[in-house]
Amino acid sequence: MSATGSLLTSLECRACCTQVEANHLVGPCPTCGHALLAVYDLSRVDGAQWWAALSGRPRNLWRYRELLPVQTMEGVVTLGEGCTPILSLASVPEAPGLGVLLKDDGLIPTGSFKARGMAVAVSRARELGASALFAPSAGNAAVALAAYGACAGVPVRVYLPDRNTEGVQEICRRYGAQVVTVPGTIRDAGEAGRASERGRGSFEMSTLREPYRVEGKKTMGFEIAEQSGDAGLPDAILYPTGGGTGLVGMYKAFQELRQLGLCDRIPRLYAVQPEGCAPVVRALREGSPRVTPWETPHTLAPGLLVPAPFASERILEAVRGSHGGGATVTDAELVDAMVDLARRHGVSASPEAAAAYAALRHLTETKQLRAGESVLVYNTGTGLGFSVDQLRSALKGSGNSSRDPGKAARPT
Ligand SMILES: Cc1ncc(COP(=O)(O)O)c(C=O)c1O
Ligand SMILES: [Zn+2]
Repeated sequence: MSATGSLLTSLECRACCTQVEANHLVGPCPTCGHALLAVYDLSRVDGAQWWAALSGRPRNLWRYRELLPVQTMEGVVTLGEGCTPILSLASVPEAPGLGVLLKDDGLIPTGSFKARGMAVAVSRARELGASALFAPSAGNAAVALAAYGACAGVPVRVYLPDRNTEGVQEICRRYGAQVVTVPGTIRDAGEAGRASERGRGSFEMSTLREPYRVEGKKTMGFEIAEQSGDAGLPDAILYPTGGGTGLVGMYKAFQELRQLGLCDRIPRLYAVQPEGCAPVVRALREGSPRVTPWETPHTLAPGLLVPAPFASERILEAVRGSHGGGATVTDAELVDAMVDLARRHGVSASPEAAAAYAALRHLTETKQLRAGESVLVYNTGTGLGFSVDQLRSALKGSGNSSRDPGKAARPT
């Protein structure tokens, strides 16, 4: 066995300060039920030497293996995820004077950034002896869990909302996962999944209810820092926010890099949500310490239909701690943004990611983004599985109008 050199020491709950040993499978904090986060002994690494050594390593997220939880190289389950490009976009008319960058995780295995979290969490769960895995999902996480479960040889069950997930169901089954459909949102799928899995010996992979998906998402921040090089970190990052794991992960990445002396500031993190389901943005506007569940959630962006994100305190901490903010966009705006990204820049983006691009206008108009700043829009997933025609039909059905009321709406 060859060691990864992981500096993982324990897990900690930032809500009640409980420390938990990291050498067994564990879910939320046993004391208070909040999210547990991984702790690394950063005093054992020379930041500058580590950073310099990265350039000689394979171009995937395992290049950051000392700051990931997996202990042996043999334990790594990989499809080659990570090291996606950062593109410099031609000017965006709605955001004059901004330097707009786009990190394209549409190019990653399974077509979304969910691969990052699942690669790391499935590897770690298998290393710790998990014999079966399950998770609720709006789509992309299910596909990633199914793919990495297949690669790891660990059985997977996914719990999906029954509406608009036919394509995802088929893909998950193709990877060999068992699919259970549940009426309602991902929240209902989570509750049904936990109830039906009780006593079955399976391990729950819901985001932030297990501690390691966020470690995989952390590599988004590491990559942004590494790829920014001499140009320096962007001033702001716009991120389509559902469960919020990406924001928590990037914030953790920049904090760890700062501790290692590798960055002196953290980009402002902006949570972008659809108007029909914006619990994080509402909590930011109201100055609340945590999110209250969104009453009647609806949006065409399935990954953003998360009415009550589990670790909302951590999400709000990431946004507030980085001096960022929040923005909402309509479904019509995000569908238009899918087309703008394709036609203006040649970029294929999912509805979720297009929401982040659409938010450029709002954040510029409200002067949260200012001319001369560099702003990174995170493209969290490919648009290839979506029909803009179908999305536009769904908009018309919902009474929402789009700039070009051409045709229509629905993810495969
Ligand atoms: C494409 C896409 N973008 C963004 C999100 C939201 O991610 P997070 O849970 O990190 O907020 C999802 C979640 O399903 C997604 O599939
Ligand atoms: Zn706790």
